[in-house]
Amino acid sequence: MSATPAILLSPPVGRAMLTWNGKQPPPPLAVPAAVEVERCGSGDQLLIHGENLAALAWLLANGYRRRINLIYIDPPFGSGIDRARRVRLRGPGPARLIPVADVEYRDTWNDDAYLQFMYERLIALREVLADDGCIYLHCDFRKAHHLRCLMDEVFGAERMLNEIIWFYPRGGDGERQFNRKHDTILLYARGDRWTFNYDETLIPYTRRQLARFCHEDERGRYYWNVNPRGERVKTYLRKPGIGAYDVWTIPIDAALARDLGYPTAKPLALLERIIRASSRPGDLVLDCFAGSGTTAVAAQRLGRRWIACDVNAGAIQVAARRLRNAMLEHTPLSAGFAAWRIGDAAPAPQGDVRIRVTHHSDQATITVEAYANPLLADISPTLPDWRCVVDEILIDPAYDGAVFRPVVVDAPLRRAVLVRGVYAIARANIGASLALKIVDAAGGEAFTVVPM
Ligand SMILES: C[S@@+](CC[C@H](N)C(=O)[O-])C[C@H]1O[C@@H](n2cnc3c(N)ncnc32)[C@H](O)[C@@H]1O
Repeated sequence: MSATPAILLSPPVGRAMLTWNGKQPPPPLAVPAAVEVERCGSGDQLLIHGENLAALAWLLANGYRRRINLIYIDPPFGSGIDRARRVRLRGPGPARLIPVADVEYRDTWNDDAYLQFMYERLIALREVLADDGCIYLHCDFRKAHHLRCLMDEVFGAERMLNEIIWFYPRGGDGERQFNRKHDTILLYARGDRWTFNYDETLIPYTRRQLARFCHEDERGRYYWNVNPRGERVKTYLRKPGIGAYDVWTIPIDAALARDLGYPTAKPLALLERIIRASSRPGDLVLDCFAGSGTTAVAAQRLGRRWIACDVNAGAIQVAARRLRNAMLEHTPLSAGFAAWRIGDAAPAPQGDVRIRVTHHSDQATITVEAYANPLLADISPTLPDWRCVVDEILIDPAYDGAVFRPVVVDAPLRRAVLVRGVYAIARANIGASLALKIVDAAGGEAFTVVPM
């Protein structure tokens, strides 16, 4: 895939518009340089580390114009919270969360900058969306009213399909107002046709509801001889459930968010409902505020293809780890993804790793002797084992010097389990160079190449 001249995007015209200080039409998009850095399996899915406007320019320049069937985005909400990074130590025993001097996630915006940011991205997203595609925009009470106006402006008010309320009952006490326990998800179509898999969205009847359809006619069809208004007419059981409402009660998966170390991770059940409803197997799903990769994982589990992008190196690490695990668990249409770095995406903080290679006649043993990340300098000396801060060790025993293709993947999902640190690799699988990558719990990583 090669770079091309800048992409021109047109602002929408002839529609009601929200305005703000400094509102600008979208600037021409320079197509950034892109490099494939890692490949996992053989699928054509993309995990992109980079700023999403740059990533969208790159996708537009590389054949993805109007190719995406479904978009879900969960952008910053303007919560005013800049979250410090906390490291959850691995290993048996009680969970320990240790703050480190680093900001993991910034969500403080001035209103004008936020609206311009979203405006430019929504216009670019419309360009990649297929004619019969849909977009879900996840937000909350802080920005939902502005974003609805922006969506009307970019996609057209007549393309609005639903304002979905995601209600997540959970503790909390609003003593000065009602408890704020819902998010808003705006669903728009790009054109006048769109995918909606009605049967996939049905809520199964309860046993009590089913029991009402107790009469059988001469053709073996079940019916209820009273309709919902109480009149004596036959109401047939035509479908396996009731049409879903636009208010969804799905609990937050706090354990998942905690284990991933990604507090804004959305429940898989939420994304699976969206993907089932608005895409078909084999369709292409895009999330360019991917965070911990929930959309891509849900798409993978449901046999859809996906593209996920995030500007934060730590998010890409978490998403890659989840996706590798999802691929082991499921047999999807196309298992595998390529990880690309786009534009000037900031690399993860760099750590240092020391490894020892011992050669035997039929195999080599790789032993990781030590690992250190300057971000963790304060806590490392207090740890019983360097592995307490290591989330993942990956090895490509035949590294080609360009694209890292890990075949040894040691990435325990459960926090109580430590990485092994010692790996035996058959000689037949070893090339001229071996590359090893370590990812730590503070988002740092180390990459080392050794001649074999
Ligand atoms: C609310 S989180 C998404 C959480 C995600 N839905 C999940 O389930 O984990 C928003 C994400 O958007 C990313 N982000 C913010 N601005 C971005 C940008 N300009 N380009 C790409 N990613 C961005 C942040 O790094 C963050 O991971």
